[in-house]
Amino acid sequence: MSKAIIKVENLFHSYMQGTPFEKEVLHGLSFEVYHGEKLAIVGPTQSGKSTLLQYFNAIFIPKKGRVIVDEQDTKDSRLNLKELRRKVAMLFQHPDSQLFKETVADDIAFGLKNMNFPEEVIEITIKKALATVGLDSNEFFYRYIFSLSGGEKKKVAIAGILALNPEILILDDPTAGLDPKGRVDFLNSIKFLHDKLGLTTIFVSSNMNDVVELADRVMILVDGKIEMIDIPENIFIKREKLLSYGLTLPSVVELVDELIKSGINVDEKIINIDQLEESLIKILNSS
Ligand SMILES: Nc1ncnc2c1ncn2[C@@H]1O[C@H](COP(=O)(O)OP(=O)(O)OP(=O)(O)O)[C@@H](O)[C@H]1O
Ligand SMILES: [Mg+2]
Repeated sequence: MSKAIIKVENLFHSYMQGTPFEKEVLHGLSFEVYHGEKLAIVGPTQSGKSTLLQYFNAIFIPKKGRVIVDEQDTKDSRLNLKELRRKVAMLFQHPDSQLFKETVADDIAFGLKNMNFPEEVIEITIKKALATVGLDSNEFFYRYIFSLSGGEKKKVAIAGILALNPEILILDDPTAGLDPKGRVDFLNSIKFLHDKLGLTTIFVSSNMNDVVELADRVMILVDGKIEMIDIPENIFIKREKLLSYGLTLPSVVELVDELIKSGINVDEKIINIDQLEESLIKILNSS
């Protein structure tokens, strides 16, 4: 088993603590995130996903429980917050809450200036970060943020965090609101980044098709409790459970069930299109 880069131990979270409106929304979570893996966090709306993400870069510090990131306890008073936030890069659900400068170059430069990088290094780094997310720097360097499509904005937001050379990438429902082409494009750039830079990637998703395409493991978070955490094959075999939580199934899994119902003997463990194709070819060849 790989080494853990994040350890969460018995983590609780309450909003509006100490007021009559106090509400506990995370109820004692314990899990690890392994170095270099892609972990999907899935759950019905309001189940605590975005709350949990905010513990990974110490936006929230545990009042009850512990969160250890790269061997540093986020509760430790000696924690270097600036360094932690460089290491753990967060892409918010709405890129508009991330991009707040006028042009692409200014936006990506912002984090670098904060880290006191010299001007000439900043320009080269911006160009490299744009290239990494597949945006041509001749075309995009001086572009106004408002002139970008939704997918381009997400890529610029990612370029901005990549420029800081992170080790862990946190994405809150990154493909929500993208059109189908934008979605495929975006998923490919995440895969590319992961393969090229070996980034540990944690992403919340409401799209089960994204989950089967990207995730090495899946956490199912329901009402602030971990119901399952396992490899995708072991998660999606539990159809009834997932549906009972109000979750949907990946399209391929639905198709597999339809095929089985109509008497075609494909394996019910299949979760992605490549496995389905292989299985159908085998069936065709043997008939
Ligand atoms: N700032 C806040 N003050 C009070 N309650 C909050 C606050 N932010 C979130 N909550 C509550 O905490 C619970 C978990 O919210 P959270 O945003 O973490 O869920 P989520 O799984 O990310 O939901 P979604 O799928 O809608 O993004 C919800 O009941 C929500 O109403
Ligand atoms: Mg959320």
